[in-house]
Amino acid sequence: MPLCAIAHLNFGYPWWISYGHLPLVVGAVSILLLGYRRKWSKWPMLLLALLVLWSGAAFLVARFVLDINGRASLPTQNFLPSGVGRVLDIGAGTGRSSIMVLESRPRATLVALDLFADSFEQHFGRGESPQQRLLANLKAAGVEQRATIQSGDMRELPFNPVSFDAVVSAYAIDHLDRQGINLSLSEAARVVKPGGEFLLILVAKEPWLQFTFGPLLMHSGIRGPAWWTTSLQDVGFQVLEVGTHPGTLYLLARRP
Ligand SMILES: C[S@@+](CC[C@H](N)C(=O)[O-])C[C@H]1O[C@@H](n2cnc3c(N)ncnc32)[C@H](O)[C@@H]1O
Repeated sequence: MPLCAIAHLNFGYPWWISYGHLPLVVGAVSILLLGYRRKWSKWPMLLLALLVLWSGAAFLVARFVLDINGRASLPTQNFLPSGVGRVLDIGAGTGRSSIMVLESRPRATLVALDLFADSFEQHFGRGESPQQRLLANLKAAGVEQRATIQSGDMRELPFNPVSFDAVVSAYAIDHLDRQGINLSLSEAARVVKPGGEFLLILVAKEPWLQFTFGPLLMHSGIRGPAWWTTSLQDVGFQVLEVGTHPGTLYLLARRP
């Protein structure tokens, strides 16, 4: 295959999420060296050394543990265990969660739904059309033939009731206000078939993320597992599993 034909995934999250700590590392090391040469007193030198240590460690966590611009893996194998069926990804963005499902469930098909509006631009910037960016990533992953792109609002899904075997949503529903969250969860419950799963993935207030970014990336981070469990139960889901991954809270629910 010619080199120019090799396509790369580009999820397009801002550079600073993966590399933003590096300028801090360089700045803090430079000032530390200056202080050493000028024989600064112990306390400022100690503080600078701590800054170097924290920014270096935070860079490694952001780049290799959280790895928001890298491929994601399913947080639980209990999602669509049959491996077959039609899945809906709510708030698909540039395709990270859609590709996660399609790669780990190679016999499933998926509808990647997004509003492709302001929130998309806030996360991924302007440029080529959002749908084209999503399609380019689906193609780069070699899964485009099992995926359909659909524009729509997760608060009012453009699908008939019971039309999906499973639903996934990653880092998307937690951008909405309380009413939007309730509407979206109700819509997920409406479109999934009885017995079908809903995998809800959220930004979590957990130690890896707090160490690396402090409050910077908290969406509705004040809402913990109990709040999300109740919200899912309120719209008719049965919660089967709750867990965390670095930066992530996930809940696996089933429509009875
Ligand atoms: C942080 S991105 C997550 C993208 C993807 N799921 C991932 O894991 O990388 C959140 C996405 O939710 C979408 N979104 C926000 N509000 C929406 C709504 N009301 N209906 C549909 N999509 C929405 C945004 O356009 C954005 O692409």
